[in-house]
Amino acid sequence: MKILAFNGSPRMEKGITDSILQTFLEGARSAGAEPETIYISKQKIKYCTGCFNCWFVHPGKCIHKDDMAMIREKIKAADVLVFGSPVYFDGFTAQMKTLLDRLIPGGMPFIENRDGHSRHPSRGKELKTRKMLLVSTCGFGEIGNFDPIIHHMKAIAANFASGKYMGALVRPMGGTLEMLKEEKPAEVKAIFDAFRQAGVEAVAKGEISEGLQAAVAKPLISVGEFVNRANALFSQLIDENKK
Ligand SMILES: Cc1cc2nc3c(=O)[nH]c(=O)nc-3n(C[C@H](O)[C@H](O)[C@H](O)COP(=O)(O)O)c2cc1C
Repeated sequence: MKILAFNGSPRMEKGITDSILQTFLEGARSAGAEPETIYISKQKIKYCTGCFNCWFVHPGKCIHKDDMAMIREKIKAADVLVFGSPVYFDGFTAQMKTLLDRLIPGGMPFIENRDGHSRHPSRGKELKTRKMLLVSTCGFGEIGNFDPIIHHMKAIAANFASGKYMGALVRPMGGTLEMLKEEKPAEVKAIFDAFRQAGVEAVAKGEISEGLQAAVAKPLISVGEFVNRANALFSQLIDENKK
């Protein structure tokens, strides 16, 4: 099973998204998958200009010559696409959205009705038959902070002809994984173990159980306690930088 993962965090390897994404991929690799990660910030990807040359002038080809041509080839070869992105303003990062918009040459202009909804057909296999998983983290505490990004991920999966939404591995209060690693080592380890196990399940069963999706999101402290501790830390950081 070829798994192509995108990391849309501008913090790349230093970010929380990468720590949970790589733990998931470690599990998948141990179960026999071949994972590859593309750090979007390392790629040259220009914005879609909305010119539609890729539909009407030279079908399937973008006017831009950049790393998207290589990325589209990798997407064609993948069985599973993993979209790793922190929540930025309630959605995907600009890096991830820029990549998503540039997938438009993989669709055709024609409009068809699938499951009562207007969709574009795939150009060949490009936007077809991929399982899709969201891996995300955010700063705030409530799980509902992921509602918009999950909704978006499901819509993207439905837009890919026969694309299948595999689920979402989301981690609220992402900062607590680092903040509490010495105070609550066993609980922090259990979260990472759940991400790893989700990788194993994704390969072995082709899906991730609701139980594991809940396990990766399990709060380490209450939202109230997190807010108090985070605010105290923020005040301290501001004071320290004044000196
Ligand atoms: C521009 C920006 C917007 C953000 N918007 C949100 C938000 O809407 N909700 C939230 O809970 N966290 C938000 N955050 C916090 C990030 O999701 C959080 O810091 C996350 O851990 C970053 O992931 P990373 O470490 O992989 O880069 C935002 C951060 C930035 C820089």
